[in-house]
Amino acid sequence: MNASQETTALLQSAREVLDENWKDGFTVPAQNQYPYQWSWDSAFIAAGYARYDRERAQRELRSLFSAQWADGRVPHIVFHNATPDASYFPGPEFWQTERNPFAPLSPRTSGIVQPPNHATAVLHIVRCAGEEGEKAALAFAGEMFPKLRAWHDWLYRERDPRGEGVVYIIHPWESGQDNSPLWDPVLARMDVPPAHFSGFRRRDTRAVAPEERPLDSDYDRYIFLVDFFRQRGYDERKIFGDGCPFLVQDVLFNTLLCRAEQDMAELARLLGENPAPFEARARRTADAVNRKLWDGDRGYYADYDLASEKPIPMPALAGFSPLFARIPGEERAETMLRRLLTPSFGLGAEQKGYPASSYDREAPEYSPRRYWRGPTWIQMNWLLMHGLRAYGRNDQAERLRRTIAELPAKGGFREYFNPETGEGHGAHRFSWTAALLIDVLHEQL
Ligand code: GLC
Repeated sequence: MNASQETTALLQSAREVLDENWKDGFTVPAQNQYPYQWSWDSAFIAAGYARYDRERAQRELRSLFSAQWADGRVPHIVFHNATPDASYFPGPEFWQTERNPFAPLSPRTSGIVQPPNHATAVLHIVRCAGEEGEKAALAFAGEMFPKLRAWHDWLYRERDPRGEGVVYIIHPWESGQDNSPLWDPVLARMDVPPAHFSGFRRRDTRAVAPEERPLDSDYDRYIFLVDFFRQRGYDERKIFGDGCPFLVQDVLFNTLLCRAEQDMAELARLLGENPAPFEARARRTADAVNRKLWDGDRGYYADYDLASEKPIPMPALAGFSPLFARIPGEERAETMLRRLLTPSFGLGAEQKGYPASSYDREAPEYSPRRYWRGPTWIQMNWLLMHGLRAYGRNDQAERLRRTIAELPAKGGFREYFNPETGEGHGAHRFSWTAALLIDVLHEQL
């Protein structure tokens, strides 16, 4: 096969993955492991659909926002198709979101959130629509605009009570990087008796090898937190006021919020709305990230643990994500690039393997196979690729683009990949791996 036939075949296989996972209105991340709709997955998935099926891209986001709570929050899981066989834990019976008056009764949802990359996906849909699709895409953007604004308003109102400009998250699952070592110091501080929730059975280790998944002691803490929230009826003021043990100002979450506000400003301009409030909020968040989350010693950004008032000095790739929202100035970007090129993250031209590792390869917590503790993820590479392009670092961006294209061809449409060997791990036939591959292949068609 020549290169263009290979691209066509790869595109075809990626579309097949999405077709299998499409449930007539939304896309599950992976049939066995994640059988419902996940919030930030849907935005990445819509970005892939935007390249060849705008209607589906729109339906994907519409169905997610059909479960938006009346207070504006967008839940992290929507159980459109929940079955009582409890194939996923924790399911709707455990979340009991009906304890909050703003939660929809149908479809049922979880009670926490995920990173806000949805406005970015909507703008991507508009940009991919071309001249002939522009009118319809703008109509869709107009329909989504108030919902996106309500979502961002909720985040700033409920998750930034001190008005700092950065919002906090209350659970590792809100970060999207569920099992990252970033949460180790916070979870270790939590005093949860072992097997506290002996009545529950984990489901996540049925389809994926246990050594690639979180430990039971972590799961006890995840569930303890969910119980803490449901006891307080998912009322954010109570959760904060009663001393939630997990309150973290996360770099990736705030970066995506900042970028989403920039993209709202652009959507506002296209729709004839006022972009100024969105520009102002984006600037405020960028300034706060630069002021509070920059780690000058390491040369990239670090999360902040609000419950103990300390930075979290764990070396995660997400510390470089602010490039995606053009948050660092040139000098900081240069410092960050120098770190990215070292063997820690593996982006240097002379370094072998499949960058970028989600965690510092030289740190003791690093594991090339365990979820979020080192493997390369397609969506992290996609964010970083765009970030590097924004600073004109085209060679390194190109290396990441090539890796996005090579990994699924080599390791299958897996959830994550060994950064040393390229071997695939985690869930099989994973939707955003397919969708973002489609997005980058289309750039070159
Ligand atoms: C895992 C990931 C999270 C993702 C979810 C569904 O929990 O850590 O980011 O949204 O799977 O794919």
